[in-house]
Amino acid sequence: MSIWREHAQDTSPGNPTQSSPRKKVTVPSLLLKKQSGEKITSVTAYDCPSARLADAAGMDFVLVGDTLAMVMLGHESTLAVTMEEMLVFTRAARRGLNRALLIADLPFGSYQVDAREGVCNALRFVKEAGAEAVKLEGGGGRADLVRRLVEAEIPVMGHLGLTPQAMNRMGGYRVQARSAEAIERIREEAHLLVGAGCFAIVLEGVPREVAALLTRELPIPTIGIGAGPDCDGQILVWHDLLGLHPESHAAPKFVRTYLPGRRLIDEALNQYRCDVEASLFPSDVESYHLPRELRESLQPAPVAAQ
Ligand code: KIV
Repeated sequence: MSIWREHAQDTSPGNPTQSSPRKKVTVPSLLLKKQSGEKITSVTAYDCPSARLADAAGMDFVLVGDTLAMVMLGHESTLAVTMEEMLVFTRAARRGLNRALLIADLPFGSYQVDAREGVCNALRFVKEAGAEAVKLEGGGGRADLVRRLVEAEIPVMGHLGLTPQAMNRMGGYRVQARSAEAIERIREEAHLLVGAGCFAIVLEGVPREVAALLTRELPIPTIGIGAGPDCDGQILVWHDLLGLHPESHAAPKFVRTYLPGRRLIDEALNQYRCDVEASLFPSDVESYHLPRELRESLQPAPVAAQ
């Protein structure tokens, strides 16, 4: 059998609005989308069921983001998540995907020491977890690493603007590129990433006008999060999109919550608890039964005399 076959066509039910079989998304197909002016759609996902839902909804790519440190593992920032943890979640997401491209985030500490270590860690995502590309944060300082990853046949997505792995240097999560000088800097960084071989760049927490300018200037797709509507594509964090945060969590203004997920889950769990407490769950039809003769022959043992 030749390995030179077209990528398998996805004939799963998927998005009901798309009746024809949809092609596997690839790095070149994302570039074609920019060139044809079609928006690129994506969401983070961290496990098999969420990846399967994202794939069936027709997302172009799924990012196993290091945000999982916060939304899945309960850390205060993204800094603590390890390579081993990221690999577990990336493998799980891989099992849920059919058509969407799988991108894994290089976690803090996995590529900052030197480029060799960065390449070794990125290779692990491809070989051990089935990632098709990696994402890393930072600008021109990452150009050498990006070049070496591309030479190693690993496609790289850049990430500029608000880069959460730099929160200690930035003094928190703040919108970036708000002065003429900072805009010039982000433009330079973006062009250096393009020159080094990135196939796309996430723009996080930058003014709409800056994202629009970069989207016009760059030959590769820009993927916005908190960067306005003019980017070539958008990404949202799974828990933001589906309203899964605790009530105390104040979502940033760029988040649109498409489902009151936490409220619906609270209601379901409370109803379940009430049903168990009131002996309403499980019902007789939710129980297994013996055949009638055996059932009728069953007698409770007499209570032993004290
Ligand atoms: O880690 C992440 O989820 C991300 C997205 C917010 C782009 O980097």
